[in-house]
Amino acid sequence: MSEFREAVIDLDAVQANVAHLRSLIGTRHTMAVVKANGYGHGAVPVARAALAGGADWLGVADITEALALRAAGIDAPLLAWLHGPDADFAAAIAADIDLGLSSALQVRQAAAAATLLGRPAAVQIKLETGLNRNGVDESDWPEVLGLAAAFERVGRLRVRGVFSHLANTSAEDDLAAIASFDRGLDAAVTAGLTVDLAHLASTAAALRLPAARYTMVRLGIGIYGQSPFDDEDAAALGLTAAMTLRGRVAAVRRVAAGAGVSYDYLWRATTDTTLALVPLGYADGVPRQAMNTARVAINGTQYPVVGRVAMDQFLVDVDSDPVAVGDVVVLFGDAAAGVPTAAEWGAAAGTINYDIVTRVGSRVPRRYVGALAENTAGASAVDAAGVPHADAAESAGA
Ligand SMILES: Cc1ncc(COP(=O)(O)O)c(C=O)c1O
Repeated sequence: MSEFREAVIDLDAVQANVAHLRSLIGTRHTMAVVKANGYGHGAVPVARAALAGGADWLGVADITEALALRAAGIDAPLLAWLHGPDADFAAAIAADIDLGLSSALQVRQAAAAATLLGRPAAVQIKLETGLNRNGVDESDWPEVLGLAAAFERVGRLRVRGVFSHLANTSAEDDLAAIASFDRGLDAAVTAGLTVDLAHLASTAAALRLPAARYTMVRLGIGIYGQSPFDDEDAAALGLTAAMTLRGRVAAVRRVAAGAGVSYDYLWRATTDTTLALVPLGYADGVPRQAMNTARVAINGTQYPVVGRVAMDQFLVDVDSDPVAVGDVVVLFGDAAAGVPTAAEWGAAAGTINYDIVTRVGSRVPRRYVGALAENTAGASAVDAAGVPHADAAESAGA
C-alpha cells in the first residue's frame, strides 16, 4: 500500500538522464547539481544515481549541503559556491569540499582556514560574467586571481579552476558572457594559475551552446528529467521525469449545480458533478496559484483542479466518473505515463518546473524506486505512472 501522499523518485531515471546528457554533451567532466535537497528529490540518493550515470563532480550551493553529502558517505569531488560571512571554510576543507570563491576576502578566509588546518584548500574562483550575482568583477580579476596564485605558491590554496554562471537570457547575452569568461581564463593564466576545470554552462547552455561547455558542465534540471526550455519539452530532449507526485483520493462528494467550492467560492459547479478531495496542499508545495488551471490524473483521466488550493488539500472536478476514496491521484510525473508534467503545473501557476519539483514539502515522503533505490530488497518495480506493482518492494526515505 503506498502513501496517502508521496513523491516517488525514480533513481534509474536520474542515472539514465545523466548518461544521456553526457552522451549529448561530451565534456571531460560532468557536475551533477544536487543543491536544495536535489531539487526536492533527495540530495543523497540523487547524488548516488548521478554518479552511477557518469557524473564525476557534485555541486551544491552551501557548505552545509556539502557536509550532509559527506556525512552520508559520498566521497566524490564536490563544490560549494555560496557562502555567508561566517561560512565554515575549515569544516569544508577538512571534508575535502572545494570552495567556490567570489571575492578577495573569501580567498583570504580560505587561505587562513587552510593555514589553521595545516592543509591546502581546494578552491575554484567564481568570475562575474554578466549575471551580477556573486563572482569577482572583471576589474578585480588581476588582484583576486593574483592573490589566489600567491597563496597557491606557498601551499595554502590549490586553485583547481575558474567558473561562472549564465543568465540564459538570449544567445546574444550568453555569447557575451562566454567572451567575458574567455577573458577570465586568460587572466587566470596571466596570474600564473593552471586552470584544470573551467565551467560556465548549466543544462540549457550545455545542450544548446557548445561554446559554453569548456571542460565541465553543471547539470541540474536535466538530470531530474525536466527541460530547461519553454520550446522543447523533456521527452523531446530524451529525458525522463524522475519525480512523480501523487496521493490518494481522501473523499468524494456529489454536489449540485451552483455549489461553491473551497475557500472564497472562487469556483462554482456549473452542473451537478462529483468532487474528489486530494490530500496535498500548499504546505506540500502545491502552488496556490494553480487553482482552476492545473490538472491531475486519476485512473488514466486528467481532471481540473477547482477552487482554492488549501494548506493540506484541494478539490478536483471528476464529473460523473466513478472515482473512489483511495484511488491514486497523480499531480505530475513523466508525460509518457499520460499524466500532467511539472512543466504544465509550472505554466498553470505562473512559474517554472524547477520551482514545482523543488518546493515539494517535507511532509511528503520520498519513496525511491529503481535498481539504485536505498533500503530495497530487490528492484521496486513501478509502472510508468509511479504506481508500484503488487510485488514491489518499497522504501520510504527522507
Ligand atoms: C551556479 C549554478 N550552476 C548550475 C546550476 C544548474 O542549473 P540547471 O538546473 O539549469 O541545470 C545552478 C542552478 O541554479 C546554479 O546555481
